[in-house]
Amino acid sequence: MIAVSCVAAFGAASQETPVYLDYTAPIEERVEDALSRMTLEEKVRVLHAQSKFSSAGVPRLGIPELWCADGPHGIRGEVFWDNWDNAGWTNDSCTAFPALTCLAATWRPELAYEYGRAIGEEARYRGKDVLLAPGVNMLRTPLNGRNFEYLGEDPLLTSVMAVPYIKGVQSNNVAACLKHYALNNNELNRNESDVHVSDRALYEIYLPAFRAGVEKGGAWAVMPSYNLFENRHACENPRLIKEILKESWGFDGVTVSDWGGAHDTDKVLDGGLDLEMGTGTDGLTADMNAYDTYHMANPYLERLRDGRESEAVLDDHVRRVLRTIFRTSMAPSYWKGRFTCPEHYAVARRIGGEGIVLLKNNGLLPVSDKVRNILMVGENAVKMLTIGGGSSSLKAQHEISPLQGLRDALRGRAEVDWERGYIGAGPVVYNNVRSRDFALLSETRDSAMLVADAVRMAGNADLVIFVGGLNKEDHQDCEDRDRLSLGLPYGQEALIGALAEANRNLVVVNISGNPVAMPWADKAGAIVQDWYLGSEAGNSLADVLTGAVNPSGRLPFTVPYRMEDTPVWGERRYPGIKRPDSRIYDIYYDEDILIGYRWYDTKSIPVQFPFGYGLGYTTFGIGRPSLTRDGDSYRLEVAVSNTGDRSGAETVQVYVTSPEVKGLLREKRKLAGFAKVDLDAGETRTVTIDIPVSVLAYYDETTSSWRITPGKYTFAVGSSSADLPHRVAARYEGN
Ligand code: GLC
Repeated sequence: MIAVSCVAAFGAASQETPVYLDYTAPIEERVEDALSRMTLEEKVRVLHAQSKFSSAGVPRLGIPELWCADGPHGIRGEVFWDNWDNAGWTNDSCTAFPALTCLAATWRPELAYEYGRAIGEEARYRGKDVLLAPGVNMLRTPLNGRNFEYLGEDPLLTSVMAVPYIKGVQSNNVAACLKHYALNNNELNRNESDVHVSDRALYEIYLPAFRAGVEKGGAWAVMPSYNLFENRHACENPRLIKEILKESWGFDGVTVSDWGGAHDTDKVLDGGLDLEMGTGTDGLTADMNAYDTYHMANPYLERLRDGRESEAVLDDHVRRVLRTIFRTSMAPSYWKGRFTCPEHYAVARRIGGEGIVLLKNNGLLPVSDKVRNILMVGENAVKMLTIGGGSSSLKAQHEISPLQGLRDALRGRAEVDWERGYIGAGPVVYNNVRSRDFALLSETRDSAMLVADAVRMAGNADLVIFVGGLNKEDHQDCEDRDRLSLGLPYGQEALIGALAEANRNLVVVNISGNPVAMPWADKAGAIVQDWYLGSEAGNSLADVLTGAVNPSGRLPFTVPYRMEDTPVWGERRYPGIKRPDSRIYDIYYDEDILIGYRWYDTKSIPVQFPFGYGLGYTTFGIGRPSLTRDGDSYRLEVAVSNTGDRSGAETVQVYVTSPEVKGLLREKRKLAGFAKVDLDAGETRTVTIDIPVSVLAYYDETTSSWRITPGKYTFAVGSSSADLPHRVAARYEGN
């Protein structure tokens, strides 16, 4: 039993002697001690929201409320108690870190840890206990509005990058909350999509990152999603929450519903959810008692009192909430985190520079020191992109625009003028956070005049840098608003063509969180896939454009030529078929395990740029690999040389091809491992990549278990999924 220090009665004996729980005991003892002291009402009260982003504690026991905050790219500004609007604080402007798609494009897990640690420090400093991040959903359709919050189209890359992010966050006694669990791969009809997917695809493609986040990352929280699976909303889904997450993976943390993801009391209580948030999420209904009407509030309490629900199940929910509080705000730690410090901006800038992907370069980049005047064209050169896009929108302390970043970098060396070129979206206000680009984006010219002005100016420049793309407006990389097409909006494609006519020294910088069609690719001398890079956006881009940073990003997704080529073409596959007399859409993942490059490679469909692709300002050579078996993993070793004239980083990628099995769908190849290596000019190093034997397994639906087919496995080694010059093979004989 924990010795509990009680304050002696003071003056007239108070109604209750305050209880001071012992901070120093092992956490499970603390959980049991607190649980044993809680009343039924106190137990129920900690299982649902008390405000927009908090759930109650137990004041009598000195247990504080639990505070959640969005991510995944920064700590969301404080909102009002009962609604989404920004509360107007003057001390909550955060560091905006790059979008997670950029982090994936670095292919450097060490940076993911730095990212998580930095954002976790900001959460701790702001008094937030649960960071609602990372998002680890697979990029199944390039139209999904939230892909910029995720880590691409490959489960292994997503897993390897998510785990250190989680560890970094939690090193600050802040819970990472894996989301959106699971199969939330589109925003259109996100509350009504009932996903039909094979168990193979479920276990091989859509669950691995969540499993890795729990089993390897030790995530303390998981957020079930809005969509349905097997006709049950994920927040009310016993197979997802109880069978797979808690029983099979041994998850001991707390499941936090997506905001408004709980719909039916019977199903919520049957589904295994622990903490209900956001029901009545519009906040307008949240009057004095609205939170008590939540499914896990008074309705639950009544069922407990009349014996329809077991207190043992209740206690498991409460233990998980208490464990989360004792791991976070009541952890025996005095680290108070850091907020908008130089180190955080340095992390943001480095990740941005490492995540930018150079897709084409005829020598225009890095910017030659002979260039004296540059014309930058495009609204995204000046537009604040930290605002908008849905719940990941931020109130950033600062945001360096591409125009400002390049001007700063080339000050005294070259002039950088700007032309808007097109009208995208006006200045943005989101949750009453106003963008500061109002002055630049107020406009009197029409589109034709904007194009004419840009083309005229382009003819006089040494170099033209177009900075466009998407912008987190509705349908342009935005939560709850999928894209409507693969191409660039606002007339950008025609504008790029006109600029190319006016000046062949044209660099196109596409800022997006999704692949975009690039019919103009042969008109550009250089193409840069840029991302939503947050506070240091302009500095990261300028670092790459000027050569201060040698680009080493590799695509975390495929860039297809057109939607018809993608694995989700066809109504059944996306957006699904509306059920008669119902608001539900049945969406069928008929492509099964063939997501992303797995589809294009297996079906031999040409693409604009392949998964894992990226160029730099130097060149590399990859030698012949060797492969040895070392217990439960294979060890692949390969020499990598920097054959160019400046230092840089190469990402060696290994893809495995499995033996055919009659009647079993096989991908042509899948990512089995990778390693990023930094090399000086002329340097050669041997890279070691350990590949767990379990990577060879497929999910056998006939036995509902993982199986490895005995036979020959070929490992292809190279610098992208489409450039694999070397092969090495191993036979697996069943052990
Ligand atoms: C949103 C999002 C989720 C976010 C939550 C709180 O609807 O789906 O990612 O964390 O609600 O804002």
